[in-house]
Amino acid sequence: MSKRKILLLGGGGREHAFAWKLSRSPRCERLFIAPGNPGTAECGENAPLNPNDFPGIARFIREREVDLLVVGPEAPLVEGLADHLREREGLHELLIIGPGQAGARLEGSKSWAKHFMEAFGIPTAKYREFSAGQLDEGLAYLETHPLPIVLKADGLAAGKGVVICPSREEARAELRAMLEGKFGAASRKVVIEEFLSGIEFSVFVLTDGKDWVVLPEAKDYKRVGEGDTGPNTGGMGAVSPVPFADETLMGKVSQRIIEPTIRGLRARGIPYRGFLFLGLINVAGEPFVIEYNCRMGDPETQVVFPRLKNDLVELFEALENGSLSEVTLEFDPRSAATVVLVSGGYPGAYDKGKPIEGLEQVEGSIVFHAGTKVQNGQLVTSGGRVLALTSFGEDFRTAVRRSLQNAERIHFEGKYFRKDIGFDLG
Ligand code: AMP
Ligand code: GLY
Repeated sequence: MSKRKILLLGGGGREHAFAWKLSRSPRCERLFIAPGNPGTAECGENAPLNPNDFPGIARFIREREVDLLVVGPEAPLVEGLADHLREREGLHELLIIGPGQAGARLEGSKSWAKHFMEAFGIPTAKYREFSAGQLDEGLAYLETHPLPIVLKADGLAAGKGVVICPSREEARAELRAMLEGKFGAASRKVVIEEFLSGIEFSVFVLTDGKDWVVLPEAKDYKRVGEGDTGPNTGGMGAVSPVPFADETLMGKVSQRIIEPTIRGLRARGIPYRGFLFLGLINVAGEPFVIEYNCRMGDPETQVVFPRLKNDLVELFEALENGSLSEVTLEFDPRSAATVVLVSGGYPGAYDKGKPIEGLEQVEGSIVFHAGTKVQNGQLVTSGGRVLALTSFGEDFRTAVRRSLQNAERIHFEGKYFRKDIGFDLG
């Protein structure tokens, strides 16, 4: 089979990790990243394309004879990019890694995902949902709900749509605000659910909708502050493997969550080709689903792909050929950890355009770019999450320590990072 011409959509740290991994494949002839970042430019060719510009993407694929499309972020999937391309003339042969709109509803609608889990007996928090016209019923429901109360905007809300309310008063105000359009159309419906107490972890599945392989699991650290305090971010760091995700727990995840999810999608006649990211919580040894995502995680990809020994393009081709069941994944047995350097103020307002120095001093870590750009020949900050430093170690502590040493060697005004990644893993 001829080598692949690949287009990767996205421009964050996750996409740099994808580009890093794809560019190592002997099956990769050309790699385009749209829009990419200065890190992905070292792995392939950046293309000035917006991942949400469907006609532009179709044109690019045709002109460059791309035969493999990898979609990094969720928004184009939830908006139906895969369906759009499948309907375009001349693109029938294109292998798309990422589900169509129907499959992406697992992430795009919390309400749909909850109904799905209920229908197929997949463990998740108890819930009720209320639409804009049902504020009074919703408020009444809150009165008897145990505290804290979790409120979730149904649709995509840039990672801000989940609010955990410690008191009934806050829950009432939040429910009202959401149903009145705090997150626009995304919160015209709200899921109210039981708070689950436990420790979170993430499991990544690559599937053709029938068979699947399970990638190394990871744990990310979403809160900005040490000790998991302060507001939620996109993710401040991650480790893989997760020490408590032993064979027993992972067996339950396969049997109770992965298997019924894939079976459920098939039962509903929903094709699914791509990554399925399970956001899970371990409640006293029992796994529950917190959320589904229809893509890989950021920054989890920055620890999962460095540990994956298989050729990623070959895995995608196995998915295409229906031979995933014959694949055995091989992982680096060492721990990988990533520490994210962010702009001061993130996830609130922050400055951009700050010169980044010291990258040449980094030793023994992989530097994944996220919010960086080149301005007048100088690398500068251009986003909240700026760089992710991934290291290996005999255990996660050693790996984190190495990333922290390198984090000290990099300089930009306002640099901030968490020094306690992995703190809760014993
Ligand atoms: P999400 O945007 O769905 O990832 O949710 C954001 C965060 O809210 C999750 O990572 C959890 O920490 C927390 N969360 C969501 N649902 C629950 C729940 N039912 N119980 C406890 N924590 C939750
Ligand atoms: N790190 C969590 C996410 O990618 O959604």
